[in-house]
Amino acid sequence: MFDLLVTGGTIVNHDGIHKGDIGIRDGRIADTGSLSGKPADRILKADNLHILPGVIDTQVHFREPGLIHKEDLESGSRAAVAGGVTAVFEMPNTSPSTTTLEAVADKIARGRDRMFCDFAFYAGASTDNLDQLAELEKAEGVAGIKVFMGSSTGNLLVDADEALETLFRNIKRRAAFHSEDEERLKSRLDRQIIGDPSSHMDWRDEQTALNSTRRLLKLARKHGRRIHVLHITTYQEMQLLSDYRDLASVEVTPQHLTLSAPDAYERLGTLAQMNPPIRSKEHRQGLWEGLRSGIVDVIGSDHAPHTSEEKQNAYPSSPSGMPGVQTLVPIMLDHVNRGRLSLQRFVDLTSAGPQRLFGLAGKGRLARGYDADLTIVDMKATRTITNAMMESRCGWTPFDGQQVTGWPVATIVRGHEVMRDGEIITAAHGQPVRFQETLATTQER
Ligand code: DOR
Repeated sequence: MFDLLVTGGTIVNHDGIHKGDIGIRDGRIADTGSLSGKPADRILKADNLHILPGVIDTQVHFREPGLIHKEDLESGSRAAVAGGVTAVFEMPNTSPSTTTLEAVADKIARGRDRMFCDFAFYAGASTDNLDQLAELEKAEGVAGIKVFMGSSTGNLLVDADEALETLFRNIKRRAAFHSEDEERLKSRLDRQIIGDPSSHMDWRDEQTALNSTRRLLKLARKHGRRIHVLHITTYQEMQLLSDYRDLASVEVTPQHLTLSAPDAYERLGTLAQMNPPIRSKEHRQGLWEGLRSGIVDVIGSDHAPHTSEEKQNAYPSSPSGMPGVQTLVPIMLDHVNRGRLSLQRFVDLTSAGPQRLFGLAGKGRLARGYDADLTIVDMKATRTITNAMMESRCGWTPFDGQQVTGWPVATIVRGHEVMRDGEIITAAHGQPVRFQETLATTQER
């Protein structure tokens, strides 16, 4: 007897793409294959739909505590499941920053049964907590340590050589890096042109990213540590990273794969402003080549909501960042439909990739015994993304008005049918993601 039987869909998993049913019991996948006729409490018919392992967004900013006029854990997670995302890794630049065990525990308590998807939190590195990182990275629900090597939203920053050396000595798990060169950012502040957001990519130029990533890779090599380099934006970094595949993993965002300068700044103004910036078509092309050649490990949305009012400030008083957790799946499925990547590569980037890099316990694979996290999509549905659809508190998307083909139609989180046809249809049941490296500190499910 299954709790839920998903029938007639096309399963996309480690085994290829094939028709099949999925039986779910007690929140886990109990069986896959030809299961029609088997008894089940509920049946979800998935004829003409594709069933993907739950999409995991490994970089979001949900702003709670402290900045909840932009977003909170509940609203951010509504946006996630509305967009077919079943788990998120949330960033530490909240207010206060997530730099202590208490701050991590507080976020977990706020998220449990209040977030609609499952969740993990990065613990932020700061110059004050370097001696506590070993403990922090082992705490329940922690995805790893996040390091801002260049200043962005919030006040987290670790950029001095000595501090970074200490950091690498103190951690063991893979740590995630925002890689921009702080010295260069400070020395080029005069490149910001008031009222011209396109000067953002001149201020935070390609050398700013490349210098920092080169330095980061050398440090990681010296200490033999695994690093995850977030939101890569230049073709030069892609080339460099291909020489460090033993220790460095690579993220790109849907917006850097989709938008480019000068068009994005002309159309969107400060809405296109983010760190690291949207760059030229040549760089966008370099990211696609990195994706095709296997250098890119994961797609993260870097969902970074700010209100429309805040974004209306004249550059550079406007904050950097754009929302994206709800549009990751539709934007990338549209790229699939345009032949830019395969559906299996999409699954590799959004489920298997996170599983491999972060050692997820029981997630990231559509196979018996794993958590029953499913992203069910209609590859033929053509829809227009609009601001009105957005569940995020910020209420806007840089993709407003964009027509896409490929759409998430159901989200299942540990067997709970959370979203159907854009409606959120259950209470929140979100729980911390479990990691193989820290199972000893983690509650069993
Ligand atoms: O543009 C950005 N916004 N980049 C970041 O690194 C942080 C983010 C935010 O939190 O707003």
